[in-house]
Amino acid sequence: MTERILEVENLTIDIPVPSGILHAVQDISIHVDRGETLCIVGESGCGKSLTSLAIMDLLPKKAIRQAARLELADESIFGISERRMSDIRGNRMSMIFQEPMTSLNPAYTIGDQLTEALRRHRKVSRGEAKDRAVFLLEKVGITAAASRLGQYPHQLSGGLRQRVMIAMALMCGPDLIIADEPTTALDVTIQAQILHLLAELQREFNMGLILITHDLGVVARIADRIAVMYAGQIVETGSAAQIFTEPLHPYTRGLLDCIPIPGKTQRGAHLGAIPGIVPSLVGQMPGCHFASRCPLVDDHCLAGAVPLFDHRDTNRSIRCLRADNEDTQKISQEGVA
Ligand SMILES: Nc1ncnc2c1ncn2[C@@H]1O[C@H](COP(=O)(O)OP(=O)(O)OP(=O)(O)O)[C@@H](O)[C@H]1O
Ligand SMILES: [Mg+2]
Repeated sequence: MTERILEVENLTIDIPVPSGILHAVQDISIHVDRGETLCIVGESGCGKSLTSLAIMDLLPKKAIRQAARLELADESIFGISERRMSDIRGNRMSMIFQEPMTSLNPAYTIGDQLTEALRRHRKVSRGEAKDRAVFLLEKVGITAAASRLGQYPHQLSGGLRQRVMIAMALMCGPDLIIADEPTTALDVTIQAQILHLLAELQREFNMGLILITHDLGVVARIADRIAVMYAGQIVETGSAAQIFTEPLHPYTRGLLDCIPIPGKTQRGAHLGAIPGIVPSLVGQMPGCHFASRCPLVDDHCLAGAVPLFDHRDTNRSIRCLRADNEDTQKISQEGVA
């Protein structure tokens, strides 16, 4: 029996900029079940971070957020008071950012920050909070955990700081963790360790996890489902197996051509790259957003907005009129406005 942790329906984010309205996120629907990892992938600027900030209600002030539904475990978290939201944030859902120093306060010890994260939301004694902090520091692989409590963030390496951030995100036992490029600032070898740690903890604590990462190798290993974003829209969703074994959208195929496949790609061989650049998101964009870069583009693709279709496979969707499958071919022939 699956338990829905997060339900996002038709999320749209517009940002007024000097040249007009930037349609940063357009009509995105995602969901996460308990114990499930959803990876969001896509090129820089496609709206991944704004989507996660919108769920946490941490968007920049000028951004305009709309949604048909935004629910955390059946409770609406859209249009609720800031007081209620700050009760939920860091408690029932936590976020891990790329740069731990943006979330860790250099002026306080690790111990103070971890215990505060729990005591803000729970009536526990200082001793109980400290015990949980030590327990979680050990869980995230920090040795001599008790002695670390008195240290300040600057006394730790980048990798250790990110482990502390993960421990902090877990302090209240959240239902959902959103990790936005949590390791990009770290050495490559440490990146993989931390992402695997996150995946292990997600399983052990049976949480929902949204992971945003550029590392498709990691996505292949830890995602249950994948949402591929392009220029503010979801262009394809499916299970990790579906996306990696049979990518349908030309953009997804292009993305996957860009990663080396162990044992297959020759060392030094040039990886695939998608020619062209992401279109501007300011103003209305008629037709398929990927049209200018798509090898399959035809007149239908430019005629009007392309909806996200349910694919014949269960739980899979694609925003393309031309992808090589029966459903989309049929739709393409019939013509869809
Ligand atoms: N505060 C802001 N003001 C104006 N535009 C913004 C603002 N924040 C983000 N954007 C724009 O919104 C779009 C989506 O940004 P977002 O940060 O969500 O992308 P992303 O997918 O997370 O990219 P990256 O992979 O580089 O982190 C981009 O075009 C970006 O320039
Ligand atoms: Mg981002």
